Parts: sequence; structure tokens; C-alpha cells
Amino acid sequence: MFFLLTSFTVVAIPYVIERFGLRVRFGLFALLFWLFVFQFVLIFSIDALLQNFATSMPDWLESMLTTLGGFAFVTIGITPIITLVLAAAYLLFALGQWLFDKDEKDLPTPQTHFTVAIDGPAASGKGTLARRIAEAYGFHHLDTGLTYRAVAKALMDQNMPLDDEFLAEKAARSVDLTKLDRAVLSAHAVGEAASKVAVMPAVRRALVAMQHSFAERSPGAVLDGRDIGTVVCPDAPVKLYITASPEARARRRYDEIRSNGGGANYEAILEDLTRRDARDMGRTDSPLKPAADAHLLDTTEMDIETAFLSAKTLIDQALAKNTH
Ligand code: C5P
Repeated sequence: MFFLLTSFTVVAIPYVIERFGLRVRFGLFALLFWLFVFQFVLIFSIDALLQNFATSMPDWLESMLTTLGGFAFVTIGITPIITLVLAAAYLLFALGQWLFDKDEKDLPTPQTHFTVAIDGPAASGKGTLARRIAEAYGFHHLDTGLTYRAVAKALMDQNMPLDDEFLAEKAARSVDLTKLDRAVLSAHAVGEAASKVAVMPAVRRALVAMQHSFAERSPGAVLDGRDIGTVVCPDAPVKLYITASPEARARRRYDEIRSNGGGANYEAILEDLTRRDARDMGRTDSPLKPAADAHLLDTTEMDIETAFLSAKTLIDQALAKNTH
């Protein structure tokens, strides 16, 4: 009965807290659980040993086993108590967080920044357009794809699996937006790995929080990615969805690699882009799709300057509204 109750405390309480929206370190609770099981097995084994072999064992061994068993017996009660104390601390923390968030939400948001949200599939031209806009308006720019790439690269560098959500979340929390090295992160293998870690909700939560604060920089910020208009900045005054046919995008990637002196195979690139699109559009958490109020720009037949002029018209209109 005691064993059942403790198992319930150690496993069910953290689960319930997690349901309340607070992330719990299950590893810690699991450790307590196994400690408890270990103590139980220890007491049982020592008791069995003493019952059967006490007469044939030297006195010092008998007294040592008795002390050890007594110690385990006394401390076994402590494990569920530590679990309960930890659970209570987590609950208090969750309550504080909830109250704090509530206060934050009640405050009016000062409009000292302007956000341009740009989404679209790989090689659609969104990155070039984002940089062009940021330069023209003196806004900060964040290529959010680099943040997912940085997570993938960190895992790859340490030979860690790409499907362990706990490790990936840890790597995501360590991403430093000021240290995103495009030259290192742009490798093809890193992009492939990035789209795998990008399906994990815990990774997205950590990176989206960072991207969201970046979007609030003054005087404005341009963010490009897959979920900027839908998840990261749903209130952005300008949202663009850049697209182009898969063939045009594969051709661009191919030309880019060739012009940098690399070897490339057009068919392989096309296949790769199509696979990446399917993964980005088909995932459950924040799939790539245009926001309902996004302006669509198809760059299949359009050069960057024409795309920039269309975007500029929309941004100027929104800026004019913002100042009146
Ligand atoms: O844009 P880039 O190719 O650098 O992105 C790499 C991968 O990161 C994408 O294939 C996508 O899976 C993921 N990503 C994302 N959400 C973003 C930006 C990128 O899921 N906002």
C-alpha cells in the first residue's frame, strides 16, 4: 500500500503539474522513484540474508547489515516527503508564474516597434527580401531558420541524436541570437537536420519565445521563417507569404551553389526541397502556411527588386496608419 501510494506520488504529481502548463524535470522525480525502489529492495534483501544466514556470518557483517537495513528503513520515508516538497515548490512556482502572466496581459502594449513577418518555403526568396527590407527601413533582421539550424548543429557537433526532445530543447534554450554564423549553419546537412528538430514542440516553444522578443526591438524588425505570421508575430502589421514554384526554387539553389564554386545536381535539389516542403507543411505544430491576413507574393517570375517594391507599398501604408 505504502509502495503504491509512493509510486503514485512520484509519477502522478509531476504529470498533473505538467498538465497545468509548467514543465517539470521528470528525470528528478524518476531518480527519486528509483531511489525509493532501491531502498525497498535493499531492506528486503538484507532481511532475507539475516533470516537465512545470520548464524553462519561473522558478527561484524551481521552488525553492518543490520545497521544498513535500519538506515534504509528510516530513510525510506524521506523519499516521498522530498517528492511532495518538490511537487509543492513546483506548484507554487506555477501559481506565481500564472499570476505574473495575468498582470503582464492586463498592461497595454506600447507600440514602439514595427514588425514585418515573412514566411515561405525554402529558396522562395524570403531571406533576400527580408534583408532588403531591413536595410531600406533600418530595421533589425532575424532569419529564424538559422535558430533551428543552430539547434541541429549543436546536437550534430556533440554526436547527439536528432530525435531526443529533451536534449534538443536544452540546445534550443542555449541558442544565442547574436552568435548565429550563417557561413557555418548554411551547410545542406544542417538544413535537413534543422527540419527534423523543428517538428518538436518543446524546441519550437523555446525558439519562438526568443524570436518573439526579437520582434519587439525598436524601431522595427523583419523576421523570416515558416510560422512568423501565424505563431511568432500574429499581430504583425505587415505579413508576407513568399512562394515560387518548386522548379524555380530548385533552379535558384542550384545556381547559387554553382556560383559559389560547388558541385550540384538539380534533380537531387528538387527532390530535397519537395521533401522539406512536405515535412514543414505536414507537421502538426506550426506547419508552414500563409496567415489568413498575409499578402501572397509569387516570385517564380519576379525579381527581388519587383518583390521589394510590392512589399514597400504595403509597409509604407501600414507605417502611415501606425503614426495617425
Ligand atoms: O529557412 P531554413 O532553410 O534555414 O530553415 C531550416 C528549417 O528550419 C526549415 O526546413 C524548417 O523546418 C525550420 N524552420 C521552422 N520555422 C521557422 C524557420 C525554420 O520550422 N520559422
